[in-house]
Amino acid sequence: MYKDIIKLAVDAKENSYSPYSKFRVGAAVETEEGLYYTGCNIENAAFTPTVCAERVAIFKAISEGKKIKRIAVSGDTKAYPCGVCRQVMREFNPEMEVIIVVDNENYEKYFLKDFLPLSFGPENLAEDIDV
Ligand code: THU
Repeated sequence: MYKDIIKLAVDAKENSYSPYSKFRVGAAVETEEGLYYTGCNIENAAFTPTVCAERVAIFKAISEGKKIKRIAVSGDTKAYPCGVCRQVMREFNPEMEVIIVVDNENYEKYFLKDFLPLSFGPENLAEDIDV
């Protein structure tokens, strides 16, 4: 189960640009249409512009007009998504599945709600905002 998305997340680590932390992360998202988009963490000498692998993969899919069904994350050690990435996931699908890759054979399956209960999202804003 989840063999393809896990392999894509693991392989996405290869392009990680992480000279400062030396911690590589890869991510892969699967869309409702069955398409995949991958991402890796991209760091910056000024530190704050750094983006996580999850957000790179999510923004690639969103920028192509896709709806995200699940995301897989593979760190050099087992990595759970940071708080910023959880909130970005929340924006685009509160029911998103999150697969945490332990190694090529092992994973943990969660729902975003496990990581971000009682969350704030688009519905909390004025009713006339169209998302
Ligand atoms: N990082 C991710 O890409 N995803 C996570 O879920 C946690 C952290 C990155 C950010 C930074 O480049 C490095 O890992 C160390 O924090």
